[in-house]
Amino acid sequence: MLGSLLTLAACGGKSTSGGPSEKLVVGTDAAYAPFEYLKDGKIVGFDVDLLKAVMKEAKLDYKLKNTGWDPLFTSLQSEQVQAGISAITINDDRKKSYDFSSPYFESINKILTKEGSPIKSVNDLKGKKVSVQNGTTGQAALEKKFGKENTNVKKYDSNVLAIQALISGEVDAVVADNTVVDEYAKNNPDKKLTVVNDKTNFESEFYGIAFPKGSKDKAKVDKALKKVIADGTYTKIYKQWFKVEPNLDVLKK
Ligand code: ARG
Repeated sequence: MLGSLLTLAACGGKSTSGGPSEKLVVGTDAAYAPFEYLKDGKIVGFDVDLLKAVMKEAKLDYKLKNTGWDPLFTSLQSEQVQAGISAITINDDRKKSYDFSSPYFESINKILTKEGSPIKSVNDLKGKKVSVQNGTTGQAALEKKFGKENTNVKKYDSNVLAIQALISGEVDAVVADNTVVDEYAKNNPDKKLTVVNDKTNFESEFYGIAFPKGSKDKAKVDKALKKVIADGTYTKIYKQWFKVEPNLDVLKK
């Protein structure tokens, strides 16, 4: 009797964890246009379309969940989500805690500030209030330059809030990914913003899809990503969002 109960319990346990037909939950922070943002209540963006193509190629069933940024990383660690796509930069620090797909997009931080601002480089941010999204590479770059204790770096839960702080005058500048600040400045001419590029102080970065350490899905996703890059699907999606040809060579490094 006890034996059969135990067998039942064991079977029950198995069927609920990780069958091949189970949907993967992919986390994102849908407040980072044009990569992932909400439009009419739906998550849309370059990352969303790329993920769809990759998962189709990999024959993986998934659903995208708007977790927010910081919770995305805790959810990856607790394996409540099985992957994350969110313009996430692959770096050594994160590689200690997560696995990453091969790179799918090149990026660099830029400064967003008001038109007529004296800020022309990262050096000019000294003594100025600067907003970032908490835990991003923008924050890391500023901390590297001005020290971790710098109280002038204001951290917000989302990049949307970091930009709002600039518009309302709480801060003098925002540091975030180039594509995001360029797009924001272009789409909001009434806000009278300008973008500052500083290639001596900011470094080139690459986005990857993040996984919990040791994930068995990484290999399938890498293979599918390689395929969609090689067969033109990636280029098609890229051109839809960015209106220019991608440089596929930089992704091969
Ligand atoms: N690429 C930067 C990083 O990894 C910022 C990404 C923010 N992404 C987002 N969906 N809010 O730190």
